[in-house]
Order: sequence, then C-alpha cells, then structure tokens
Amino acid sequence: MKTSPKSPLTISILIICIYFSQLQFLAQNTEQSSSTIAIKIENTLKKLTLKEKVALCHAQSKFSTKGVERLGIPEIWMADGPHGVRAEISWDDWSYAGWTNDSITAFPALTCLAATFNPKLSSQFGFSLGEEARYRKKDVLLGPGVNIYRTPLNGRNFEYMGEDPFLASTMVVPYIKGVQKNGVAACVKHYALNNQELWRDKVNVEVSDRALHEIYLPAFKAAVTKANVWALMGAYNKFRGQYATHHELLTKKILKEDWKYDGVVISDWSSAHSTIASAMFGLDIEMGTGTDGLGTSTSNHYDHYYLATSFLKKLKSGEIPLAILDDKVRRILRLRFRTNMSNNRPLGRANNKEHHDVARKVAAEGIVLLKNENNFFPIKDDKNLIIAVIGENATRSMTAGGGSSELKPQFEISPLQGIRARYKNATIIHSMGFASGPSVYDKVIPSKLNADSLRVAAIQTAKKADIVLFVGGLSKSHLQDCEGDDRKQFGLPFGQETLINDIVAVNQNVGFVLVTGNAVAMPWLKKVKGVIQTWYLGSMAGHAIADVISGAVNPSGKLPFTFPIKLEDNAAHSFGEISYPGIDMTQQYKEDILVGYRWHDTKEIKPLYAFGYGLSYTSFKVSNIEIDKKTYTKEASINVSCTVKNIGNIDGAEVIQIYIGKSKSKVKRALKELKGFQKVKLKSGEKSNINIEIPVNSLAFYDETISDWNLEKGDYIIYVGNAANNIFKKKTFSVK
Ligand code: GLC
Repeated sequence: MKTSPKSPLTISILIICIYFSQLQFLAQNTEQSSSTIAIKIENTLKKLTLKEKVALCHAQSKFSTKGVERLGIPEIWMADGPHGVRAEISWDDWSYAGWTNDSITAFPALTCLAATFNPKLSSQFGFSLGEEARYRKKDVLLGPGVNIYRTPLNGRNFEYMGEDPFLASTMVVPYIKGVQKNGVAACVKHYALNNQELWRDKVNVEVSDRALHEIYLPAFKAAVTKANVWALMGAYNKFRGQYATHHELLTKKILKEDWKYDGVVISDWSSAHSTIASAMFGLDIEMGTGTDGLGTSTSNHYDHYYLATSFLKKLKSGEIPLAILDDKVRRILRLRFRTNMSNNRPLGRANNKEHHDVARKVAAEGIVLLKNENNFFPIKDDKNLIIAVIGENATRSMTAGGGSSELKPQFEISPLQGIRARYKNATIIHSMGFASGPSVYDKVIPSKLNADSLRVAAIQTAKKADIVLFVGGLSKSHLQDCEGDDRKQFGLPFGQETLINDIVAVNQNVGFVLVTGNAVAMPWLKKVKGVIQTWYLGSMAGHAIADVISGAVNPSGKLPFTFPIKLEDNAAHSFGEISYPGIDMTQQYKEDILVGYRWHDTKEIKPLYAFGYGLSYTSFKVSNIEIDKKTYTKEASINVSCTVKNIGNIDGAEVIQIYIGKSKSKVKRALKELKGFQKVKLKSGEKSNINIEIPVNSLAFYDETISDWNLEKGDYIIYVGNAANNIFKKKTFSVK
C-alpha cells in the first residue's frame, strides 16, 4: 500500500509520542520496582521470627551478615573500599584469606578523582568499580569516603574528595549512581566529622551547627538526596558527646527524618557502643564490634554484639518497641531487594581493558601540574637523552598499605616501569635515593637499607643524567598517608629534603614527581624546575604519569585542597591544640566555616598552591564573562556565560570555576565559596561558549537562629576564575 510521505511535522509528533510512551513505561517500571519492593518487604517481614529479624541487624563474620536459610534470604557480603575491591579477609580475624581469585583493578584514590573536576569521569569510575564489586559477589562496597580535608596531617585525606563541600557533593553523586547501576550498594562514609585519624575512635568533636551543615554534611546530603545512596557508614568519633554512629541529631533526626533516607546505616568496625543508642538512634547493621577496625580483633562471639542478644532481650521485655526492629528490618530487606534479591541485577566484570582504561584516564586527568619553569615538562623522548629516575616512590607499591583501602591489584605499573615503557629512545637510569619502612598498619619498621649509601648512589646517578625525575612524596605506611593515625610532620619524610638539595647541587634539571595524597611543605620548590602532583593512581599509575610527563596527555587536574606554605597557615592549625588534635579527647573546630581556601581568602594568607589551581601545557583565554541579569528572585538560577579559547598549540582542558560571596551580611561569611564549575576540553585554537547555571537558593546560609537555611536578600559578588586565587572577573548582582 502506497503511503503518502509523512510531513516533517507528523514525523516529529510521532517521535515525541513514542518517546513519552517509552518514558512512561520506564517510569512505571521504576515505580513498580520501588512499590514492588515495598510489597515484597511486607510479605517477607511477616514470615520472619523475632530471632531471625535481630540476626539481620549485626555481623556474622568480619564482612558479612546472616541471611535466613529457611526462606532463601541470602547473606549480605561487604568489601572495602573506595578505589578498588579489597582482597578477601578471613572469616573472623583481620588476616587475608589467601584467595588466589580476588585480585582486581586498583583505581586512583579519590583525591585524584576529585582533582579531575569531571563528574562524567566520576560516573565511569563508579560504574567500573561497581562492576568489579559485583564480579567479586559483593553486595555492599564500603566507599566512597567524603570527609572534608580540614588538616593536611589527616592520614586518610587521600581517600576523600578534598576541602570543598560543593566539589565533593558534585563528584560523589555520579560515583554512587555508577556503583549502584551494578546492583551493588555504595556506602558513603564516615558520617560524620571523622576528619582526622589520631584518636578517631575516642575524640569528641565540637563544631557549630552552621559549619556542620555548610561544610561537613553537604556531600553526605547529596549522596542521600541526589544519588539515593543505599548504605551509609557511621563514624567512630563522637559529636557533642554522642557517638556519631548512633546519634540522635546526626543519624536519627537529620539523616532519617529530615533527609528521609531509606537505606541502611552500617556502623564502622566497632563504632557501635550501646544497645539502646543503636536501637533508638538509627543504627541498622552493626559490624566489627570487638575489633579496632583494622588491626587487632578479639575472636568475636557475634551474639555479644549490642544489636544481638541484649537487643533481643530488650525487645522481648518491651523496653524497645518491636516497631524499632521492624524499621531496621525493612531497610535491611530493601538493601537486599536492591542488590542480591533484585531480579534484574546485571553481571559484573573485573580486570578488563575498559576498567584499565578508566583507571588510566582518571589518573592522567587528575594529575596536577604545579610548576613548569621554561617548559621543563613535557620531556621529549630522544636517543641522546639520559633521564635519571630517583626516589623510592618510583618503584614502591602504593596500592599496598594505607589501611582498609589497601588493594591486591592484578598488576600495578610503577612510575619507573611507566617511564621505561614510554621512553624507547632515551636512556633511563635509576637509583632508589631513600627508603621508608614496609607498609604496616600500626608500627613504623625502618628500612634495613643504609640511608647514606642510598644518598651517595643517588647523587652519582644524578651526575650522569641530563634530566632528573625525583619521584618522592609520602608512603602508605603508619604515620604517613595511612588510616589509624595522622602524620607527625608537614614536610617530606625519610631525608628527602636533604637529598633533593644534594641532587640539585649536581644537576640543575630536576623535576619533582610528588606521590602523595596530602599537601606537603616544599622548602626546595625554588630549586626544582617542575613539580607534578600525581596522587595515588593505582594499577595504571606508571602509564598515567608517563602520559603526562611525555606530553601524550596535557595535564588538566586542579587541586581539590589548598597547599599551605607552612602548617600554621592552615585554619585547623591556627587555634592551638584544642583545634587539632584536641585536648583530653575534646576537639573544637574553631575555624568554623573557614576551612581551606575560605580561610586563606578571608584571612589573606597566601597559599603555596591554591584550591582549584593547576597548570596546562597550553594556555587559555577567557572572555565575554557575563551573567544574565542584575537582579534575581529566590527561585531563579544565575546563568554565567563566557568564552574560553585555547590559544596555545596543544589540545587541552580548562576548569572554569564560579565562586560567590556576600560582603554585607548579617552573619560572618567566607570571602567567596565555590558554587559552580565546568571543565571544557578544547583543541589548539578552538574556542567554546560555556554556560554555568547556579540556583540562587544554593547561596543560602545555615541560620542557627531558625535551624534552617536562610537566603539573604541584597548584593552578592560573583568571581569567575580558574583557581581560588586566580579570578578573571568579578560581577555584582542582587537577590530580591
Ligand atoms: C575501618 C574503616 C572503614 C572500613 C572498615 C572495614 O576501620 O574506618 O572505612 O570500611 O573499617 O574495613
């Protein structure tokens, strides 16, 4: 039958109808899945005995909780960590189980992911990591960590997403959605105020409501309200005298009542301390009681957990209402129907090329070029060139150690291996230079190697080279970038500061490859020609570092936290011991909302390197910076537009950052706060117009007088730049 050619209008109407009917089907499906899940939960709840319900609320082993065998309800299996699936741990102690099928892809640590300022990459990162967790048959992945970078000494900063709540909130959402697309629960941690490792399980944090809501909670709130995270881990520390893991304000009111969180609260390992508080203040699954979360553990008789026998007794006596138990069980069953009882759960994958590519891409895009005098980097491969690679971090595994986030990767390309693989013509020579102890959790075992002979050998090696790449920094051993304790010094350890001076004395062409998850002092900075901050990059570390050093990748990373010149310039270290590390186990966050660049801006303390800073091998020109109105209503969004042009001869990427401040205000304010950013990739000579939308209501401050957010009317200042201390233009606008 000859049909008349459809008019374009008819075709477009047809397409729209098909599109909306598909949307509707999808929405119904999603709705069905949550309402179907609700029905399944109620049907299952009815079948469970009291004892079976209580057993669901606590561990049966180090990393699993009981199922209900007679009903076919599976156990829940958990595994660390935020940047890779940890090797199998023994049933009831912290030793590794010695499996030979549990090696995985080690992805970069989350400071590197944050440094990419690229939410799309975060989604790929989360999805790939979730696939590996799924393949390892894990139902809960114990990550991401989003505790705010308050002090450069915190042993676990490397696992988190920096000092700014907006950056952490923006980057954590796609990561969680990516993980959970695999039918694996992400578990955002550690809720909340676990901002140091020293005395983490004892210290009582005191901080204002305003700083709590404006700085320390936003990333958790985004995880819950924007990413619909299915699990959350309570922190070890106390807050205003109560343990954070079962806390009347944090877990009961803010998380479950105000944010309407429908997932499970899992304790950190041994962070539960009371049956009543666990029951009444929102803890759902108790893990690790009787262990210290990493090293020591008593052989656990799981029935002495707080949510075990004593919980059962108090339920039977009526001291704790059964409804309290049923709320926990509903959440725990919901976790199961979202994961190991879901009927359309995808398969997982591990150690595949796509994951290696994602790991390499995040690594290369997160590396930050800090200094590049006379275009020291990139270093071209040349048969007449001799490059000396010096420093223990050029060969030392950085996936081993660090605490619970340590990994057993199928492979880990070291910086030296990566450089050797990349430079086929140049001559690469190597010397260890310095040596730290092995990666152990709670003690420092000095290296057996003689420091002086290492130093002398390194100087000899440096003499023979045209260029020296000094690969140093910190390590994942105790008192370094490691869980369980904090660093005791801000400068580089293991004699590196002396060594770098000795090397520069014999060779002027030195580039420093910093392998750390934290800021460090750089008294040697003027003596070196280039510095790149390379984080902990996982399996593909060496290739990613070689990508940037050789120019195969043009660095575009930006610092997710400030590098102060000296420790005393940091906010947390400006108020004496009560502020850090605390006195008699009480700690006061006296800097309040002025964390990181907020402190440096407002107190006018020049940083060594600023939040949001990072160089490129090319240059960009930003012009036509405009905002769409002069006055905005509260419901409006501010549209910031500008033109970015790559005026250099190498393709690259820039991150346009939007900060907003209010000079006249009824409350104390930081000079400016990050409220938007966008990464723009441009070929050489290419330009692009970008638009960044900023909801006006995101400018509200947390008003302690009304215990709620309050959007002040009046004039605001918008700062457009590419670093907290590099603003191209300021504009004013008002909110009426
Ligand atoms: C550790 C850590 C936590 C980890 C858990 C299990 O103490 O604080 O991040 O997921 O115990 O290893």
